[in-house]
Amino acid sequence: RKKVTIQALNALRASKTPITMITAYDYPSALACSSSTLTDITLVGDSLAQVCLGYSSTTQLTLREMIHHAQAVSRGTTHPFLVADMPFGSYHTTTADAVANAVRLVQEGRVEGVKLEGGKEIVDVVRRLTEVGIPVMAHIGLLPQRHSALSGYKVQGRSVEGAKRVVQDALALQDAGAFAMVVEAVPKELGKYITEQLKIPTIGIGAGPWTNGQVLVYDDAMGTWSGHKAKFVRRFANLKEVRDTGIQKYAEAVRDGSFPDENTESYAMDKELWQKFL
Ligand code: KIV
Ligand code: NA
Repeated sequence: RKKVTIQALNALRASKTPITMITAYDYPSALACSSSTLTDITLVGDSLAQVCLGYSSTTQLTLREMIHHAQAVSRGTTHPFLVADMPFGSYHTTTADAVANAVRLVQEGRVEGVKLEGGKEIVDVVRRLTEVGIPVMAHIGLLPQRHSALSGYKVQGRSVEGAKRVVQDALALQDAGAFAMVVEAVPKELGKYITEQLKIPTIGIGAGPWTNGQVLVYDDAMGTWSGHKAKFVRRFANLKEVRDTGIQKYAEAVRDGSFPDENTESYAMDKELWQKFL
């Protein structure tokens, strides 16, 4: 498949073809995301913090760490449009800092676009990044980088006031130049309403079936671990079971001496040479 562009994403939206996006954190998961011609976007999500690096929150992830992983993902990415999350703190000081940090993600991390969490308070940054030619994917609704301020991970936009705020954020971010928008953990009615109000593609996660696309965390979708499963997650594979069974079989085979096989899994010395050697 040809490299996916922003134009191609807009065409998918126009033809009502659901956009498929999934996260990747390293070379193998990037290859996995590129293995189907039906995947459109690979995201180096800052969920990297929890699912790959063992941190308890995305707020602990540094720009340096994100760049390191984005480099590996870019080496394994073929056709999907490649986006990386700007880590917490990397776009919150000044617009100049945000541009410098986004440039590092493009130049060192080799991504094509960046994703930023937030609403009205980040529109100046979104506008400036767009102006200098760095495509911005916005992220509204539940904002994991604000879990402390919000007292946890909660569905957003459930009140009349809350729903209005999310819609106003969405419109302001589109106006600032965002090329697409992740909508996380909002009622399905609001996911549909925002999608109808916007001209850019919406990519939902826990936002119901009526957004222009869907995104899931790779480890949630593939079942590589068995931690908390949010209501909106569907497991499309059970890699943990396959993996743990494989580890058990390997360890058993070493223990009982059946691995490696002396013929098929071992090298042999030429018999005459071996006699000389002895
Ligand atoms: O970090 C992440 O994985 C994300 C997606 C879930 C949208 O932001
Ligand atoms: Na994220």
